[in-house]
Amino acid sequence: MRFGGVQALAGISYLVQPGRVQSVIGPNGAGKTTLFNVITGVYRPTEGRVLLDGDDVSGQSPDRLARRGVARTFQNLQVCLQMSALDNVMAGAHRHLGQGLLPSLLHLRATRRADAQARDAAMEWMRFVGVDRYALRDADGLPYGALKRLEIARALASKPRLLFLDEPAAGLNPTEKVAMRDLIHAISERGVTVVLVEHDMKLVMGVSERILVLDYGRKLAEGSADEVRANPDVVAAYLGHG
Ligand SMILES: Nc1ncnc2c1ncn2[C@@H]1O[C@H](COP(=O)(O)OP(=O)(O)OP(=O)(O)O)[C@@H](O)[C@H]1O
Ligand SMILES: [Mg+2]
Repeated sequence: MRFGGVQALAGISYLVQPGRVQSVIGPNGAGKTTLFNVITGVYRPTEGRVLLDGDDVSGQSPDRLARRGVARTFQNLQVCLQMSALDNVMAGAHRHLGQGLLPSLLHLRATRRADAQARDAAMEWMRFVGVDRYALRDADGLPYGALKRLEIARALASKPRLLFLDEPAAGLNPTEKVAMRDLIHAISERGVTVVLVEHDMKLVMGVSERILVLDYGRKLAEGSADEVRANPDVVAAYLGHG
């Protein structure tokens, strides 16, 4: 993936393994979010391909990929603050994430009363992630940790097989981080394949069955937590970036 003169990803080959929790790590600017953006259809790769079940889905819109079971959260929260927490999650059920969000939300408002089932399902997801007590509050007034979970509930409401979490624990306190680890395990236990980008190494090492390490847009290492931890290139990359 190139942006003008910036080679954000170069020669990355990455296989997401079904049914496992896996992480993508690397120093700031390594290309982690860009990798998620390419995989989830935010960007069409300038070279190379993204395959889903063997089909070339490179550059397919996030909406289309959502219908095929691919969901994500964002490093910078993309919750609609003027809407209730519940409406945010219901928007996820309608699989209109990203750019198509606003028109679909207006439509959603109009049809909401008829949509009791979607509402119940959304409530269930909120309970699952632990934010159901905020359901009718505007997202605006929610604590940061609850917003991070709300975004996960919204992604889960689209019933994904594959869930990409971009820094789910960023900004959380130690207690919330432990709860996030448990939530990731619970999501995985429901049969959803989880891939996360995370800087918190304790969380990464605690949840990941596989880890991909990026540095300057390249694959530096890939393997189990132990393999990655023992890799001198990985240690050097983190020390080199300070
Ligand atoms: N839309 C864009 N236009 C131009 N450059 C971009 C764009 N998106 C990412 N980049 C560049 O690509 C590189 C990788 O960025 P990316 O956001 O993927 O890093 P990251 O690994 O997620 O970092 P962080 O840990 O800080 O979130 C950076 O040099 C960044 O400036
Ligand atoms: Mg990032």
